[in-house]
Amino acid sequence: MCGIVGYVGPRQSLSVLMGGLRRLEYRGYDSAGVAVIGPDGVLGTAKKAGKLAELTAELAEHPLADGTTGIGHTRWATHGGPTDANAHPHLGDDGKLALIHNGIIENFAELKGELLAEGVTFTSETDTEVAAIMVGQRYRETGDLTEAFRQVVSRLHGAFTLLAVHQDSPGVVVGARRNSPLVIGLGDGENFLGSDVAAFVEFTRRAMEIGQDQIVTIRPGSVEVTDFAGNPAESREFEVAWDASAAEKGGWSSFMAKEISEEPDAIANTLLGRVVDGDVVLPELDPIQAALDDVDRIIIVACGTAAYSGILGKYALEKWAGVPTEVELSHEFRYRDPVLTSRTLVISISQSGETMDTLMAVKYAGERGANTLSICNTQGATIARESDAALFTHAGPEVAVASTKAFVAQVTALYLVALKLGIARGTLEPGVVAGHLEQLLALPGKLSQVLETGSQIRELARGMSDTRSVLFLGRNVGYPIALEGALKLKELAYIHAEGFAAGELKHGPIALIEPGQRVFVVVPSPRDSDSLHRKVVSNIQEIRARGAFVIAIAEEGDVAVLPYADDVLRIPLAGPMFEPLLAVAPLQIFAMELAAAKGLDVDQPRNLAKSVTVE
Ligand code: F6R
Repeated sequence: MCGIVGYVGPRQSLSVLMGGLRRLEYRGYDSAGVAVIGPDGVLGTAKKAGKLAELTAELAEHPLADGTTGIGHTRWATHGGPTDANAHPHLGDDGKLALIHNGIIENFAELKGELLAEGVTFTSETDTEVAAIMVGQRYRETGDLTEAFRQVVSRLHGAFTLLAVHQDSPGVVVGARRNSPLVIGLGDGENFLGSDVAAFVEFTRRAMEIGQDQIVTIRPGSVEVTDFAGNPAESREFEVAWDASAAEKGGWSSFMAKEISEEPDAIANTLLGRVVDGDVVLPELDPIQAALDDVDRIIIVACGTAAYSGILGKYALEKWAGVPTEVELSHEFRYRDPVLTSRTLVISISQSGETMDTLMAVKYAGERGANTLSICNTQGATIARESDAALFTHAGPEVAVASTKAFVAQVTALYLVALKLGIARGTLEPGVVAGHLEQLLALPGKLSQVLETGSQIRELARGMSDTRSVLFLGRNVGYPIALEGALKLKELAYIHAEGFAAGELKHGPIALIEPGQRVFVVVPSPRDSDSLHRKVVSNIQEIRARGAFVIAIAEEGDVAVLPYADDVLRIPLAGPMFEPLLAVAPLQIFAMELAAAKGLDVDQPRNLAKSVTVE
């Protein structure tokens, strides 16, 4: 939530900042602003409610004197609505300092009370302005922006990334972070700060992590990182694995369309180098090897789409490795006194690696003696660093707010972990392992075939653009796909949508079925030994008898569904555990096309932000 960028160097900073904000806009798009120290040494700011285009128009109408030091912000509102006044940057009380913020300062009311008592006046309703005033005051006393930060951050509670510039310190940008993301981009005679590497990858792929509770000071030729007390801190440098073009639309109508098209690669790249001679090779798990040998229970923590990938992970971990596994929403997990022991493995799943609820769940698990493994798509992300071990998915940057390619990559990674555990625990015969690995490796090709059916799904979606409610049914591994199909439709097309376990239908939801009710059904493979296929076909008959309009997602050659389905979307044969990875794409495409047919912004749905860094 909120995107942050900072720059010092020889370039005119406005174009760097605006380019960075364009790449970070997916993190929040309620309002945007920039602050630049102009050539005359005077701080100039521009900020506007609305998407970045509004700020661009504002800058065209009222140009800022450009300079070589600046900060920029794109906002997802927390305290105070999305207005021009609440947009960042916020200024210190003498107007010489500009500060931007991502997160929530939980004790801002108390701090604001103190400042009001001193006679300070405020121009916004934000918590951020409190920090801006305080840092500005400390700067007046110390004449040093880094020292001013140090004195203020120790008084702030909550989560924050703060970045500031002061007109009396040109060539300096100072940042601080607690439980909120910030990375450094290392250039040649220039340096950058960003909420994630997308902010600066156009200029440099050399990046550096900043740890929790650390302050960073960048100048054109230097980067200094300390803890909040001022002690020098070690920072890890890393190379960004993708280039700027990966974060561009590249001719697609939306980032979401592009990212769905990249799903085969997301799976292939997540498997790359990890399936070797019929074995699963995951050196990333070495730090928790002893714990894995001894694990008696797994808890998967995640939110939203990532939690649905976790349900598939649970089925695989129990089926293949025989380890009892639960899936819990991260924000529920730590508030219910979960029983954790040194034999519990907590696996967190997060595309961004910054979701606050999941981060807090990971910390909680670690503090109570559990072992933690994160499955994460973003290099340098906080959750990965806070975990005992991290397994990265290689889906590439996901820019569209709705998660798509990260989901299939997460499931792929979870399946690899389940197979690795199954092999180690002797719960899988070598022949079975070989079969599963073969299925995994064949998935990218089969998924490409599914994506070729996009035009059939587009037609279906266009015909349903005035639909007000859609239900999704699935059973076993089809159940999380039903949940995911419903989530995608809600968040993109703003249509009431619900996913149900098909077996639950008769326990209540069937009352919703009336003539014309649209229902997607994820049909299990007819080759499934548990006769789930027959049971789901019976469910289809039951809803059809009550007038439902049924769209089945079924394996090629499954003719049993034909008499009862109004439409059938076909997926290639892949084996029961692998078909969910093929069945999800038609539902993602359906939601995207329906939203597009309604004229909605597919990449930036209302009220949402990509990376939810507040609880
Ligand atoms: C839905 C979606 C969200 C995220 C959730 C977790 O399309 O994108 O439900 O899956 O906010 O985000 P990460 O994976 O970044 O922790």
